[in-house]
Amino acid sequence: MTELATTPLHASTSRQTFADDVLYYLSLQPRQLPSRYFYDALGSALFEAICRLPWYRITRSETRLLATHSRRIFSRLDPLSTLVELGPGNGEKLATLIGSDTLRPPRLDVHLVDVSPTALASSSRVTGALDGVVVTTHQASYEAGLTEAASQTRESGRTLVLFLGSNIGNFDPPGADAFLRGIRSALVKGDAFLIGADLVKNERELVLAYDDPLGVTDAFNHNLLVRINRELDGDFDLDAFAHRALWNAEKSRVEMHLVSQRSQRVRVAAARLAFTIGEGESIWTESSYKYQPAALVTMLERAGFRLVEQWIDGEAGFALTLAIAT
Ligand code: AVJ
Repeated sequence: MTELATTPLHASTSRQTFADDVLYYLSLQPRQLPSRYFYDALGSALFEAICRLPWYRITRSETRLLATHSRRIFSRLDPLSTLVELGPGNGEKLATLIGSDTLRPPRLDVHLVDVSPTALASSSRVTGALDGVVVTTHQASYEAGLTEAASQTRESGRTLVLFLGSNIGNFDPPGADAFLRGIRSALVKGDAFLIGADLVKNERELVLAYDDPLGVTDAFNHNLLVRINRELDGDFDLDAFAHRALWNAEKSRVEMHLVSQRSQRVRVAAARLAFTIGEGESIWTESSYKYQPAALVTMLERAGFRLVEQWIDGEAGFALTLAIAT
């Protein structure tokens, strides 16, 4: 079939994985979908739009902290040879960190790790344009990409791993611990880790960031169903699901859901899935955990890091935390 001939191997494999995940997660109680599937080309563009919304302050706050403290970040670390960013997005934050700084090493190997080819294309373009920077991309999971990058580091000079944008927030607490331990095990003593994380703040602000008045986050959430319909031959009635964002104080997370507006039957042919979802029943599509500054430090310590410095934007409620592998 012509379609098979023009489909790269990884694309057809990942379609199968997508189908398997849709079957598994939509069959759970409560029904769920993994948030990693938000980011197809349209979803990535919608996320970039979210980052410009007045109500979603994470990106602007973090970029400001990086620009303000880049000199200090490099001055607190042993000389670096290598920088690894897990989930670089469009590459602008990394460019802010290394582009605005005169203290950073004149030559830097930059490794960009992302599953999305779109993200790798734009981030490598933006960072590759900087003086003295040699970019390597890894189209891989964070873990696999970091392992690959770590095996390619130079003898002299330390490695700094960046995990920005509060991407840590998508992991539940045990998952976050395991993930940070995995990062630590890819590093050697003296290497560094810089993590950006959104902080607990008042409920109204938290919910508004995920339920914006322009409806961009609503579209971002619904796009998951659009993807399933298109890529897996699903028949989700988009209008019959409502976007909902809520603050779960007990778990310290914002949850996004798609709430079924009536009892309805849904089929996803490529996942061999058919189910009835009741009125008011929801599909849980994302958790964004929010942190206390001190909890970030203890989380890093549990994983084998010690705090170097933490910078907090008290107005937006966002923290940038720099740690060293012990
Ligand atoms: C990219 C996971 C950090 O949780 O804030 C934005 C994704 N979801 N609006 C977040 C997202 C809804 C974002 N992260």
